[in-house]
Amino acid sequence: MERTLILDALNATAAQEHITLCGWIRTRRDAKGFCFVELNDGSCLANMQCIVDEGTEAHAALGDANTGAAVQIEGELVASPGKGQRWEVRARALRVFGLADPESFPLQKKRHSDEFLRGIAHLRPRTNKFGAAFRIRSETARAVHDFFHARRFALVHTPVLTGADCEGAGEMFRVTTLPVGATDQTADFFNRQCNLTVSGQLEAEALALGLGRVYSFGPTFRAENSNTPRHAAEFWMIEPEMAFADLDDLMELSESLTRHVVEHVLLHCEADLKLFDSFVDKGLLERLRAMLNRPFARISYTEAVAILTDCDREFTYPVAFGTDLQTEHERYLAEEHFQRPVIVYNYPREIKAFYMRANDDGETVAAMDMLVPRIGELIGGSQREERLDRLTARILELGQEPEDYWWYLDLRRFGSVPHAGFGLGFERLLMMLTGITNIRDVLPFPRTPGSLEF
Ligand code: 4AD
Ligand code: MG
Repeated sequence: MERTLILDALNATAAQEHITLCGWIRTRRDAKGFCFVELNDGSCLANMQCIVDEGTEAHAALGDANTGAAVQIEGELVASPGKGQRWEVRARALRVFGLADPESFPLQKKRHSDEFLRGIAHLRPRTNKFGAAFRIRSETARAVHDFFHARRFALVHTPVLTGADCEGAGEMFRVTTLPVGATDQTADFFNRQCNLTVSGQLEAEALALGLGRVYSFGPTFRAENSNTPRHAAEFWMIEPEMAFADLDDLMELSESLTRHVVEHVLLHCEADLKLFDSFVDKGLLERLRAMLNRPFARISYTEAVAILTDCDREFTYPVAFGTDLQTEHERYLAEEHFQRPVIVYNYPREIKAFYMRANDDGETVAAMDMLVPRIGELIGGSQREERLDRLTARILELGQEPEDYWWYLDLRRFGSVPHAGFGLGFERLLMMLTGITNIRDVLPFPRTPGSLEF
């Protein structure tokens, strides 16, 4: 179907004799002798104002089509005499693809609550806010790929179905073809237990130890029953893994990636970000720009604990060396104490996963988390334990079977090297970029406990 995107039409450098637009009517206003149709096609936030003169074929074809109807409008692109837009279209011909009954169409001109729109997730891409959110989601993904491509990382695809529990937290979705109630797992499809992956890290390590620098960007699944605004059961993670690299290299990578993405969206999503700055999170643009002005903070876990115990803030969860930082602590550090992203490194080994590299102090591991204002943890990663004896001992210490990790341990048996990687939660990144405070609103079709409608 021949058509011009409204995004391109609005950027035209000259008037055009003939243009064809397709989209959905946002509003229709009938005046004396003509009617205004505001058309949106999702290519950008802005609508194209179209004028349909009474008595024309176009006007007859428009009939009583109104908000929500899908139409094609052919006409002339002319300079707009009105305020607010450079161009408008004078319609010559019009075709209605699909009407929307004004009585039952749920998206009315007024502003709707986020809760209401979650209940109509199939229609919310047609609102300004969610159109903008999902365009920013797309641009952010592009920025991530650009970044790694420029640094010569290979994109790898790690399996979604896996027999391993990478994080050791056990919060996994089981996948089975056995009938309900069956107990013999060896009779299952893979002759063993299978889950949806919680992280592609273990496989990414194997790939990094062949390709040098890799990253995966895919869906991950966690059956945490935590109904928070920052957790989803299905979310996307970006997981780079670098061979011949240590914790310092990893911290540098995490900061550069975050900065690159912020810079990219400031450059390429200006109109959409302005919408969030005006209606969702006043000060968003200023905060994003300020992030680029100075280096992120870096402190050890021990220093973080000192800051949290010395401050005069009352926390719900007390802090002491050896406790995991809670969101309230993470946010205090990033939002109030440093007022910018902060990388916390060298966490106590007891609260971290088995694969993290032991530091010489015997107490901490070479882990890092990046904490950002308003969200808390955005990135979690570590240098990996590359010493076979240490890793085997840690697996045994945690009551696990080294045989279950035979291939992972092989990577330490044959040509082991220092290597490091992290996982960045893509939705949390989008929350940071848009000011949206609920993860359900940066995912087109969120999966959270008790919610799987669409
Ligand atoms: O810190 P996590 O659990 O790290 C890992 O899974 C490592 N294996 C990654 C690696 O080193 N390759 O998760 C990484 C990030 C978190 O920092 C957070 O941003 C995000 O994933 N995340 C979630 N995002 C949304 N909903 C959830 N339930 C999330 N759980 C983690
Ligand atoms: Mg983590």
